Amino acid sequence: MSLSPLFTPDFSNPTRKAAAYNDLARQADALFAGERDWIANLAQFAALIYTQLPDLNWAGFYLAQGSTLVLGPFQGKVACVRIPFDRGVCGACASSRTPQIVPDVHAFAGHIACDAASASELVLPVTVAGRLRAVFDLDSPTLARFDQIDAQAIGTMLTALVRATDWGRVPDA
Ligand code: SME
Repeated sequence: MSLSPLFTPDFSNPTRKAAAYNDLARQADALFAGERDWIANLAQFAALIYTQLPDLNWAGFYLAQGSTLVLGPFQGKVACVRIPFDRGVCGACASSRTPQIVPDVHAFAGHIACDAASASELVLPVTVAGRLRAVFDLDSPTLARFDQIDAQAIGTMLTALVRATDWGRVPDA
């Protein structure tokens, strides 16, 4: 793993958001270089996203074990541990395998409130060799915090994470 070059992507200018994500993706690639351990890489990914993206109150993984999501590496307050595929925004992402952009979690039927401060949410599927292995969940205290640029850029970073990581030891049942 190399911590160099590390710099802070500038997300302060909304019109440069895609460029800031490019910088963030380069940081992620540097973090994963030469390291394939799943706990290390997923933990680093959650920490990178949580510390570099503005306006988040939670970021982390739930691992797909059978038809239940189980809490994995994350940053933020303690969270619910087990989420069935038919519950919550995370379950909707897992069962549909499609990104969920929820501008107002209180208007989403079945939303699971781990932190009363959460107002909007983005959940992305993590598939490995065609199988759903996890979801990556981001929460924000701001309404409509996430858009298609966030979903696409973080999805691309997750694809790089999948490639850089050995999934052989990740629990899946
Ligand atoms: N809000 C999620 C539950 C996970 S927490 O936000 C960390 C959901 O509805 O699935």
